[in-house]
Amino acid sequence: MKKIEQATILKNECYVNNIYDMVIFAPEVANIAKSGQFINVYTGKSDMILPRPISLCEINKEEGTLRLLYQVVGKGTQYFSTLPKKSNIQILGALGNGFYIDENHKNHILIGGGIGVPPMLELAKNLQGNIHIFIGAKSDPILVKEFQEIGVTVTIATDDGSCGIHGTVLDAIQKEQPLADMIYACGPKVMLKAVSEWAEQVQIPIQVSMEERMACGIGACVGCAIKIKKKNTNDWENLKVCKDGPVFWGNEVIWNE
Ligand SMILES: Cc1cc2nc3c(=O)[nH]c(=O)nc-3n(C[C@H](O)[C@H](O)[C@H](O)COP(=O)(O)OP(=O)(O)OC[C@H]3O[C@@H](n4cnc5c(N)ncnc54)[C@H](O)[C@@H]3O)c2cc1C
Ligand code: FES
Repeated sequence: MKKIEQATILKNECYVNNIYDMVIFAPEVANIAKSGQFINVYTGKSDMILPRPISLCEINKEEGTLRLLYQVVGKGTQYFSTLPKKSNIQILGALGNGFYIDENHKNHILIGGGIGVPPMLELAKNLQGNIHIFIGAKSDPILVKEFQEIGVTVTIATDDGSCGIHGTVLDAIQKEQPLADMIYACGPKVMLKAVSEWAEQVQIPIQVSMEERMACGIGACVGCAIKIKKKNTNDWENLKVCKDGPVFWGNEVIWNE
């Protein structure tokens, strides 16, 4: 059973706008972690008892470090942004099921919307073959250079047209029509639904990482349950994003809930 443990902050800097780049020393978690998993980060404050789930952007097993890219949206992430280098935070992980990787697949489409982009970096580092990422943003796409540096083809779509294609990631994909054996996506639910419906039309399997609102983050409260179709039936079941996910097959998610 995983235990809450202490991690040391090695870096915690503003990356762009209200997004922060944190690197923590957590060798035991780094050792078992895989792409698509997340950690629960605790504030240690009595008025913020619930953990904040954050995806693993990079895992460095040799150095025992994890990289987290997080957006300041509320009290918890605001608190994290104030933590200095060399201070400690409590974490639990690595949690959830990561992405399924099939070594026979040679063409991969990655889709990241907004703060759903970070887990795609560790995933890209673990895939072999041609990798094309579609990054969706309001105006400032993140991690573009870092994907390019590891040989990933990058296409950007922005809401305001200030960078890349003016439109959604789906507009960009439909324009470029890339080849793929597998699609992996993380971002807002509306984006995951749209790309899953497109993937079904073009008959390419898609894995979606659901960033549902969580409470306990460890499978104890059903606060993060979503409806998933049962295999080979018309029935469905409630599964927990924190424990059974966060990665699910796109064609198994019941989207209109
Ligand atoms: C599997 C997973 C991975 C995630 N990865 C990232 C990431 O890599 N980078 C990043 O910036 N954000 C990520 N998020 C979203 C992040 O967890 C929330 O933005 C964060 O918990 C908000 O906390 P807060 O205290 O600042 O906001 P508040 O709104 O004050 O939070 C109040 C409570 O609601 C919960 N909550 C609020 N928003 C979310 C949310 N979107 N998902 C889950 N719980 C939420 C918080 O845990 C907290 O308990 C992820 C969410 C999930 C479920
Ligand atoms: S957040 Fe409590 S079960 Fe998932």
